[in-house]
Amino acid sequence: MKNIAILGSTGSIGKSALSIAKIHPDLFTISALAANTSVDLIEQQVRQFNPKLVALYDQGAASLLRQRISDLKSVDVMSGAMGISAVATIDEAELVLEAMGGSIGLLPTLEAIQSGKDLAFVNKEVLVMCGSLVQKAVKKHNVKLLPVDSEISAIFQCLPHPFQKNRIHKLILTASGGPFWKTSSDKLKDMTPEQALKHPNWTMGNKVTIDSATMMNKGLEVIEAKCFFELELKKIEVVVHAESIIHSMVEFVDGSLLAQLGVPDMRVPIQYALTYPDRLENPADRLDFSQIRQFHFEPPDFKRFPCLDLAYTAAEVGGTLPTVLSGSDEVAVDAFLNRQIGFMDIPAVLRRAMDLHDVVYEAELDQILEINRWTREITRKIIGN
Ligand SMILES: NC(=O)c1ccc[n+]([C@@H]2O[C@H](COP(=O)([O-])OP(=O)(O)OC[C@H]3O[C@@H](n4cnc5c(N)ncnc54)[C@H](OP(=O)(O)O)[C@@H]3O)[C@@H](O)[C@H]2O)c1
Repeated sequence: MKNIAILGSTGSIGKSALSIAKIHPDLFTISALAANTSVDLIEQQVRQFNPKLVALYDQGAASLLRQRISDLKSVDVMSGAMGISAVATIDEAELVLEAMGGSIGLLPTLEAIQSGKDLAFVNKEVLVMCGSLVQKAVKKHNVKLLPVDSEISAIFQCLPHPFQKNRIHKLILTASGGPFWKTSSDKLKDMTPEQALKHPNWTMGNKVTIDSATMMNKGLEVIEAKCFFELELKKIEVVVHAESIIHSMVEFVDGSLLAQLGVPDMRVPIQYALTYPDRLENPADRLDFSQIRQFHFEPPDFKRFPCLDLAYTAAEVGGTLPTVLSGSDEVAVDAFLNRQIGFMDIPAVLRRAMDLHDVVYEAELDQILEINRWTREITRKIIGN
């Protein structure tokens, strides 16, 4: 029996993870759950999975939940950053699934690692913001970092463990191209949040869906892969594969390529992270090769999707530039969803924030936190102007 704590249990990834726990009740116990404001859904989850602890970041939502589940005497309800931290470090859990998304996950991620938990990891923003601090903590506390993001999971599945870096020629990250892959440059600026939220292949939370439309998602994954596998940037390539069936590939030095394929369904990589190195039955659909006529591949278009270009720049410069890229993107995506800026303003805002930043190398945690605060403030100012 594996004891799991889930941060972000009411989100797209969190719900899929609980659906896996539900079909394998003999394998997983849910020790703790955390979310922000989704009282109704987390109440259902608490009643179904009976965790010891539940936390809602929002104080009001936590008070309401406390009243709603007052009949469940064995469940503690906490709130705020302290509540999220308590879920991340709960004694009973051996593995934490960190699926909150964004910089809010930074401290709980580090706390989970410091308290010796293995980490099923999907919050790419945290690796982008401070990947070297996360990797240092993983090594110091000797815990496992198990990828959930489908592309990183695909590469992880193609590699032997441990792997030799000098046997890898390159990693090839596949990208669907998002909803606007066929949209011309002059039309991109008029794209609305509703259009951008219609991803052709995946159903995901709003932030990652908008990032897919700008192709920032792939840019963040390039930095995530660089950090996760500790490889040079020149060994990481992006190819657009609209079908999202090949989830990514590894090309070895002898020219052999290994790819991981499957229907686009996050339950597969989530389950693999929870059961690694074992594989179990999964309810996801199966690939039917009699129905697949063609696979398409195209190079990415850095001109129409400047966010991808910005991410490569941030990865190349390194230091705290990726921290700024990611933090600024969180604020800009929010502003786009709230119709404060247009679709093509997103890269313009990020570029300006990146230009204004003095890069710090080997930054400590307090510097990262301060740069994240500065980034949010400066991005809001840029948007306001
Ligand atoms: N969805 C996918 O298929 C997918 C694929 C690859 C990678 N990812 C990555 O996975 C992460 C999560 O994505 P998602 O699509 O699952 O996001 P999502 O659907 O927006 O869910 C976010 C979750 O985090 C919770 N949350 C937000 N702010 C919080 C806070 N301050 N304190 C505690 N909980 C908070 C939300 O709670 P409330 O419901 O209460 O707001 C919700 O449970 C992102 O980093 C994304 O890039 C997702």
